[in-house]
Amino acid sequence: VDLTSANTLRLPCIADYYAEPASLDALRRTLAYARRKQWPVTLLGGGSNVLLPPRLAGLAIRPALNQWWLTRDGNDVLVHVGAGVNWHALVLNTAARGLWGIENLALIPGDCGAAPVQNIGAYGVELADSLQALQVMELATGETRWLNNADCAFGYRDSLFKNALNGRVVITQLVLRLSRQPALKLHYGDLASRLSNAPSPLDVANAVSAIRQEKLPDPKQLANAGSFFKNPIVSSQQALALLACYPGMPHFPLSNGQTKLAAGWLIDQCGLKGTREGAFGVHDRQALVLVHLGGGDREGLMRFADSLVEQVNARFNVLLEPEPRLI
Ligand code: EPU
Repeated sequence: VDLTSANTLRLPCIADYYAEPASLDALRRTLAYARRKQWPVTLLGGGSNVLLPPRLAGLAIRPALNQWWLTRDGNDVLVHVGAGVNWHALVLNTAARGLWGIENLALIPGDCGAAPVQNIGAYGVELADSLQALQVMELATGETRWLNNADCAFGYRDSLFKNALNGRVVITQLVLRLSRQPALKLHYGDLASRLSNAPSPLDVANAVSAIRQEKLPDPKQLANAGSFFKNPIVSSQQALALLACYPGMPHFPLSNGQTKLAAGWLIDQCGLKGTREGAFGVHDRQALVLVHLGGGDREGLMRFADSLVEQVNARFNVLLEPEPRLI
């Protein structure tokens, strides 16, 4: 099965088998079948945060659990959403109903089931801020269970699903807590300046979409996986030393005393924005995004990324880590 168009970087990938189970029961049976056949299982969502190999042994599964519904809980509204629902469609739909909480996360590509894995975040908001609970199915047994927010060990682009539960569960359903009360979070970047007084959640979602469209390439037109590197977190001493040399360096002090730097700025400072080598390049409007111009594969991309990591490390003594997951 050709998965080249199932990953937004368009890395060539052929999997032995592929399934899109559309119910919990079908998913359970699919997992049981793979166990009997001793096929390794790879879970996919929208394919916008993965680095796929040319050959993928075993079975790739994209859960097609596409239902979502709302319930009331006091002043809040709980959104119950299946793993297969498109994230941006959910954001637009809930924002249009006047619900607050995820409007800053507009236009993030991918499926809802993948959102908790990297704890998607943008414009000062993370999924962890509104996620109440989620349901998982164990790969080994087909049993389902619920985890609450604290169980998920969310961090910056991090969660239990990248660590202890990596490769052990399928996320099948999310429950998000949204509010009817206005809860504007407009402190990030120039978001506030783009909005008039008393914006609706849909106004915010549209403003975020507009900013993203200006900076980030549309994967349908230019293959990419959003930010290719995580923003590095360094000690406050290292941040101060760097600031002494580069007073204009963007930096975000964290509550634990460490400081988050902007990987895009570091790459940009090395003069690498818009550079190209073979099949891959650094996007010309956002240095954090690597683009695939066609004809490359994962190995070529990793080589290109390594050369960027080396140049940033040589200049700033900061080690960048890839953000998409190596499958
Ligand atoms: N910058 C540059 N040159 C560049 C890119 C950025 O100088 O080429 C500077 C900017 O001027 C700004 C700072 O770096 O001062 C931060 O840039 P920006 O606000 O564009 O955000 P980012 O740190 O590059 C992160 C997320 C994005 C998210 C934005 C907005 C990560 C790895 N990336 O990017 O997430 O949309 O903030 O919140 O945390 C993604 O994960 O795929 C993604 C796009």
